[in-house]
Amino acid sequence: MYESFYHLKENPFGATPDPRFFYKGKAHREALAYLAYGIFRKRGFLAVTGEVGIGKTTVIRSFVQTFYPCLDASFVLNTRVTFEEMLYLSLRDFGCETANRSKVEMLTALNDYLIDKYAMNQNPLLVIDEAQNLTADVLEELRLLSNLETDQHKLIQIVLIGQPELEAVLLRKELRQFRQRIPGILRMHRLSREEVGRYIIYRLRIAGMVKGGVHFSAGAHDAVFEFSEGIPRLINTVCDKVLHRSYLRKQRIIERKAVEASIQELANQVDHPREEWGGLR
Ligand SMILES: Nc1ncnc2c1ncn2[C@@H]1O[C@H](COP(=O)(O)OP(=O)(O)OP(=O)(O)O)[C@@H](O)[C@H]1O
Ligand SMILES: [Mg+2]
Repeated sequence: MYESFYHLKENPFGATPDPRFFYKGKAHREALAYLAYGIFRKRGFLAVTGEVGIGKTTVIRSFVQTFYPCLDASFVLNTRVTFEEMLYLSLRDFGCETANRSKVEMLTALNDYLIDKYAMNQNPLLVIDEAQNLTADVLEELRLLSNLETDQHKLIQIVLIGQPELEAVLLRKELRQFRQRIPGILRMHRLSREEVGRYIIYRLRIAGMVKGGVHFSAGAHDAVFEFSEGIPRLINTVCDKVLHRSYLRKQRIIERKAVEASIQELANQVDHPREEWGGLR
């Protein structure tokens, strides 16, 4: 809508986790290093946690894309499921036959698939997003799944991604055997004030920013940081809003005042309930 006015090629603050827009802040670099260590050292299990909208899904998708085809990932996004349903979903995402198969048949199919991949020197990865919803029973079965191994290596690496509640789930006493398999849980932290500024500029550049097209003042960066508290999804929400507002007023320089007015507009929007975007602080 406002893109052509600002001489941008596309929307800089879209809502989808597009790896092209991936800005590598400190938290992201740490998460990437943790994933690389755990996956290529074949540690079996990994767990990444962080607040809603902090960039967990973006990080794992970008990681998988970077290392494709050396990595072969299956994504399970629905975690309110039984283990059998999860097995079905992951096999289907790996591209295996799933029709009319019993649990034992599905486990056998997975084992065969993993051995084939091992022979091809590929690293199969099972990524379970929203893992804070998994029940203890499903986690226990996942632990058994990670027992699929050769003499030296785990055949599948399992990455659990979830909100901070996942930490409490994994620390439950009955899951201590499971917990011992994870080489530490990685908690992603928010962006700092400086990183918020760099994040805004980075996304604008990827969207095609040119000189004289659009500019956020230092005060505007401050206001975005104060509102978002360093959570990327909230940065996107407020930046998109302020760009739209300023476009209607034909302003190319985004000042603190415009950001504050946009935050107020967001708070007043009836179709945008507070809980959805984090609320006005
Ligand atoms: N490092 C980053 N670089 C660029 N954009 C990012 C980054 N981190 C997050 N985003 C953007 O923020 C939004 C939220 O990111 P994402 O969906 O990855 O968060 P999440 O932690 O998985 O959230 P949820 O807990 O709701 O699943 C997306 O639009 C994504 O594009
Ligand atoms: Mg996510």
